[in-house]
Amino acid sequence: MKGDLGSSLAARLVCSRTGETARLDRPAFLSPTGAPWLVEYDLDGVDGEELRAAWAGRPCSMWRYRELLPLIAHEHRVDLGEGGTPLVRLRRTAPPGVDVWVKEEGGNPTGSFKARGLSMAVNRARELGAPGVQIPSAGNAALAIAAYAAASDLPARVALPEDTPAKIVERCREYGAEVLTAPGTLVDAGHRLAERDDGFFNLATMKEPYRAEGKKTMGLELAEQFGWELPDWIVYPTGGGTGIIGMHRAFDQLARLGLLSGRRPRFVAVQVSGCAPLVRAFEKGDAAAEPWTDPQTRVWGLRVPRAVGDFLVLDAVRATGGLALAVDEGGLPTACRRLAAGEGMRFGPEGAACALAIEELASRGTIERGQRVVLFQTGHPDNY
Ligand SMILES: Cc1ncc(COP(=O)(O)O)c(C=O)c1O
Repeated sequence: MKGDLGSSLAARLVCSRTGETARLDRPAFLSPTGAPWLVEYDLDGVDGEELRAAWAGRPCSMWRYRELLPLIAHEHRVDLGEGGTPLVRLRRTAPPGVDVWVKEEGGNPTGSFKARGLSMAVNRARELGAPGVQIPSAGNAALAIAAYAAASDLPARVALPEDTPAKIVERCREYGAEVLTAPGTLVDAGHRLAERDDGFFNLATMKEPYRAEGKKTMGLELAEQFGWELPDWIVYPTGGGTGIIGMHRAFDQLARLGLLSGRRPRFVAVQVSGCAPLVRAFEKGDAAAEPWTDPQTRVWGLRVPRAVGDFLVLDAVRATGGLALAVDEGGLPTACRRLAAGEGMRFGPEGAACALAIEELASRGTIERGQRVVLFQTGHPDNY
């Protein structure tokens, strides 16, 4: 095996638009053209089987995939046990004949999948000497950055829309974070952070390269949990879309390592009809999404009117033969009740939106009987 088993195989950053490269040992945010940087790994000559065997013998957290992650000093990481989440089959509420599995992310530290990306980004910020970290957030990302910063003894600042539930604000403060609020959405909250100039690393979605790497581990876990055979569909609640971007790259990397065979899953990017910029762009055939003016939704995680990685999400959806779909959020409370009573599982609204999308696609015949579908239940309902 090339390099030491156990060391990161990350080699460089690559601009997602131009292919320009940058070094990993310096802080990086957006590339000179304003596009996200992505992490590239040096996988030539790496023995995939050897890696797979090493992963199988390690504790069940996202850090078992350390060779495919960009943290250099793995042994000094700050780890709250993120990742290694259950994959649970729906028994009673799936559309007839469709094999639906739930990737239950609500048990992550701070109650959402945001733990994966922010663990990685805060660890990298720490490794690169950040004086502090900050983020605009709809809520879950703020909780995650606040917890990982606390564990890392780094100051944290979060900016939240002013209608964010008070208990989220309180919990961020409990972790020691400074909390700013702003009217409007997380885009407006982001402007509040720009007023500060103290060198804190801004870990906003896709404006730095490492959150997508943490989210990538959802794809690595799915492959391993299904015995290296991926499902037909991945149905994913999409705001900024970091998870789709990350998983798409994860599957590329596993394929390069010779660990995947067969067809790649089709991504379904799920949004709500009151804020659906990616769905509109998908339907128009556009490569990037126009910002959504006046977003109207109480599904906070999906109230993302503009995403810097929009073109990467649309590209992943199209490349896999997937689609983008908006659901009507009026149906979410009933869907949550049905899943709780029928399956014994409590869903957050973003996860429930995916359940509605699966029903819709199965009723249209797009998702067919006999197909396997993974639904991402991304956040614990108690975070609302
Ligand atoms: C529970 C939940 N699901 C989905 C999303 C959307 O995530 P992303 O913006 O990474 O696409 C969020 C974002 O806040 C969230 O909190």
